[in-house]
Amino acid sequence: MSGYVAAQPGIFAQGTRAHYYLEFDVRGGADPDAVISALSRLREPAVTSGGANIVIALGPDLWRRIAPDDAPAGLQPFVPIGTAPATQHDVFLWLHGTNHDVVLDMARAAVVALGGVADLATEQPAFVYLDSRDMTGFVDGTENPPIWEAPDVAIVPEGAGVGGSFVLVMRWVHDLGRFHALSKEDQEGVIGRTKPDSVELAAGVKPATAHIARVVVDDDEGNEREIFRRSTPFGTVHEQGLQFVAFCREPESFSVMLHRMLDDDGGVHDRLTDFSTPVSGSFYFAPSIDALVRACPAFDDD
Ligand code: HEM
Repeated sequence: MSGYVAAQPGIFAQGTRAHYYLEFDVRGGADPDAVISALSRLREPAVTSGGANIVIALGPDLWRRIAPDDAPAGLQPFVPIGTAPATQHDVFLWLHGTNHDVVLDMARAAVVALGGVADLATEQPAFVYLDSRDMTGFVDGTENPPIWEAPDVAIVPEGAGVGGSFVLVMRWVHDLGRFHALSKEDQEGVIGRTKPDSVELAAGVKPATAHIARVVVDDDEGNEREIFRRSTPFGTVHEQGLQFVAFCREPESFSVMLHRMLDDDGGVHDRLTDFSTPVSGSFYFAPSIDALVRACPAFDDD
């Protein structure tokens, strides 16, 4: 890597409990340059403003049209995997801050800023539940890379797309009634960790169908595949689930993990998928700040 290339800092910002996710479809015929120009009118992503962070990510086709030289090899739209549908959109915005009012204001401002070129396709407010638990009651994030290692996991280290990050966005809807009807021990077998304190079950106890048994997998060189997860729960009294959002320096680990979760691999699938259903799936690319500025110098304006 030559020189310092800044990744979008909101990917790593910690301590925010209010989250808001937006996906947009660019209107047919809209000029890609007009889309990136509209995005630059959002608050500058290099700073946290008003106590909130914005992460901007573009769908593979749109980013390749805006900045072909800054699009990494392997950047492809989501395709269906097992029961996971492909619901690819063009723009993904992740807004996160201290309180719901701030992120809601930013979400509304984003819809206005993009109004001339894109339609809102999905919106999902979300929150940190208790001590960073998923709505199943299990701690989510225990084995996430620590913040000082996260850039190595999440950020493209060199070549086209350097400083950017591949993003997987999926909405999972839980059947909490059925999950919570299981005994605590059975719930722990579904995840592969203990419920109160997130301790990994011993090798002889952890089922092959446990979630963590499916997603812990080595690459061809024998190194454990790693992704940086930033998912948060959502819910009303009628529907609860997880907005799964993860970042990676390469796209393959996402696909490998999803296949191990959702495809019957020799009769083994992730038992968590018996209690939670993926209802959306998209891949995006979160470019570096430098690439955003190259695509639209207005990103550099104060
Ligand atoms: C319903 C959706 C999901 C739920 C509720 C969920 C929940 C959890 C929980 C409770 C853990 C254990 C604690 C931790 O280490 O964070 C975990 C670990 C993990 N999950 Fe998920 N997860 C979901 C979907 C996914 C998906 C779609 C992927 C990958 C594409 C994934 C990848 C991982 C990874 C890599 C780990 C860490 C495994 C380890 O190193 O021990 N998860 N998840």
